[in-house]
Amino acid sequence: MSLSVVILAAGQGKRMRSDLPKVLHTLAGKTLLEHIVNTAIHLAPTQPPLVIYGHKGEQVKNTLSALPVTWIHQTEQLGTGHAAAQALPHIPDDHRVLILSGDVPLITHDTLQQLLATPDDAIGIITATLENPAGFGRIIRDANQQIINIIEEKDATLQQKQIKEMNAGIYLIKAKHLKHWLPKLSNHNAQQEYYLPEIISFALQEKIPVHSIQPFDYQEILGINDRIQLAELERFVQRKLAEHHMKQGATFLDPARVDIRGELTIGQDTTIDINFISEGRVIIGNHCTIGANVLLRNTVIGDYTEIKANSLIDSSEIARHCVIGPFARIRPGTVLAEKARVGNFVEIKNSFIDCGTKINHLSYIGDSEIGKLVNIGAGTITCNYDGINKHQTVIGDAAFIGSCTQLVAPVSIGEGATIGAGSTITANAPPHKLTLARAKQITIENWKRNNPNELKEK
Ligand code: UD1
Ligand code: CA
Repeated sequence: MSLSVVILAAGQGKRMRSDLPKVLHTLAGKTLLEHIVNTAIHLAPTQPPLVIYGHKGEQVKNTLSALPVTWIHQTEQLGTGHAAAQALPHIPDDHRVLILSGDVPLITHDTLQQLLATPDDAIGIITATLENPAGFGRIIRDANQQIINIIEEKDATLQQKQIKEMNAGIYLIKAKHLKHWLPKLSNHNAQQEYYLPEIISFALQEKIPVHSIQPFDYQEILGINDRIQLAELERFVQRKLAEHHMKQGATFLDPARVDIRGELTIGQDTTIDINFISEGRVIIGNHCTIGANVLLRNTVIGDYTEIKANSLIDSSEIARHCVIGPFARIRPGTVLAEKARVGNFVEIKNSFIDCGTKINHLSYIGDSEIGKLVNIGAGTITCNYDGINKHQTVIGDAAFIGSCTQLVAPVSIGEGATIGAGSTITANAPPHKLTLARAKQITIENWKRNNPNELKEK
């Protein structure tokens, strides 16, 4: 049977106390809505998912305009039943409809596949028995364990509040039933809203069975209503991501102290120390070592490379057998070839560093092309910016740049050239020669301090 998926995402999420609509808050670096849309698409529905949006709707739509979905506006947020009704004109009568919730973003493909296996004549819902189901709708069953109703906590009697089986807010139902029942919902309840779960009472009247399934992990169906629940689910997602990578052969010294926000790939036998953060698309090769407190963003790291503690690498490509850090900052557009070494307090931006080159201490390298086996002394600065434009520095293979040199770009240093320490280089330096640009050192004979006893007095 053809399948339509509806995602309810128009609510404000009052309890988040946020200027941002709830579905734009993130888990593992992805918005809640992206999580659920990706899961929906993975089910291969007959048409693109139908997303009901509303509160601060333009912001949601603009932020996620690339999502392959049909956006349906709910002008007033009158409840989940009213939200689902907005999708009806887009759904053919012979479809089955899977209704998902934008604030229950972690429901898995496997659990939904189970739901999709609901017998054809029945309505499918997802429930779970929780130690503390406070805030959720409760499942009412009769003596034969048949589901006969769902009661919202705000409408529940004290006795009904004792029920621990909760409604996950996810339903599988035939379009013809929805079209028949949704217009009949009432809002005579504590919240004066049109409740989608009320369809269960219509099913009962028409003797249509309600079939329930349970998720593999109960965390999958924990809705996010406030930032405390968001933080709890973040830990759950991170644990699952860490487990995925450990199964693929990566070692985390503490899987509880890893944050993966985006798409991460890790090769085998790579070891990652604590407080690692990965953002965007990151690929780490085999046999790498990542020290504590390292942040990688949109970066590729080759095999056997070592990133030492407290380093940041953004939008760069690092080849095999490199050593970076501790305390290195590699900014966008940097490419390190094999065996390059970048040490502490070095900043590199938009530069190519060829094989075996060393920039080991306290340097700034920007807009540069540096050859093979170059040694950049401590405290070297490429002066790439004149206040208006950026200029390039080119350094040939095997050049030796003495410590504390300033290379005023545009400038090029020839192959095998040596630059004396403390030079301010403003013109090109020829290959294989020593170039110096600094005041000559002099010593003044017979010079006396004003107070020759100064040192003794101290
Ligand atoms: C809902 C269920 C509850 C269930 C819980 C599971 C109802 C009445 N109650 O409660 O039984 O246990 O989910 O998490 O359905 N939305 C709209 N338009 C609206 C109202 C809501 O699009 O007018 C969207 C929200 O953005 C949200 C979803 O529907 O993504 C659920 O709404 P919410 O208000 O969070 O319902 P709950 O009180 O959590
Ligand atoms: Ca909710």
